[in-house]
Amino acid sequence: MNQSRGKFITFEGIDGAGKSSHIAAVADLIRSRGLNVVSTREPGGTPLGEKLRELLLHQSMHLETEAMLMFAARREHLAQVIEPALARGEWIVCDRFSDATYAYQGGGRGLDKQKFAALEQWVHGHLQPDLTFLFDLPPAIAGERIAAQGRELDRFEQERADFHVRVRLAYLERAAESPKRIRVINADQPLEDIRKQVEETLVTNCL
Ligand code: TMP
Repeated sequence: MNQSRGKFITFEGIDGAGKSSHIAAVADLIRSRGLNVVSTREPGGTPLGEKLRELLLHQSMHLETEAMLMFAARREHLAQVIEPALARGEWIVCDRFSDATYAYQGGGRGLDKQKFAALEQWVHGHLQPDLTFLFDLPPAIAGERIAAQGRELDRFEQERADFHVRVRLAYLERAAESPKRIRVINADQPLEDIRKQVEETLVTNCL
């Protein structure tokens, strides 16, 4: 049978931007059209990737080690999960992908983005997301949302406010470079308004 390739949808934003509930809604919407969906995340998505996630979120390390481990986890994720599912005609809904490395390790940590461009070319030169939702909001509001959850913070969430400001700016810069693929969603609005905007964008561009 000649199976057409599935679509690859990613979700990005600073910590506390509120992606999670919208990711689940998007997966449900795609399923409601009779399509198969794999919902996954980065870093993570495979047994090895989840072990690397644990290290990346809780173990201090050299900044370049951090960037390379993000891409190592991604390579495994692409090989084990993303590429086979797309080839079977299934859709991928993924919480973060390489745009997060540009934003966090590039913007946040200040590493040279040319280095990521080389790793990106190596790891997935042939594949980019079909559509990316960037949930954008001021870090001060995101920080309040995280604080209200009252849980233990990971290494990225513990970073100072200026780190999150740089991550946000790097995301917005990346969206300006790829406006067709990366759609900026104002995440400082009522949930229902965000849900409608996400749904319309998905239906118009992919379904
Ligand atoms: P999450 O909590 O949204 O799943 O993301 C885990 C953290 O990992 C989040 O703070 C962003 C960070 N991260 C990076 O720094 N670089 C990356 O490439 C990815 C995928 C995530």
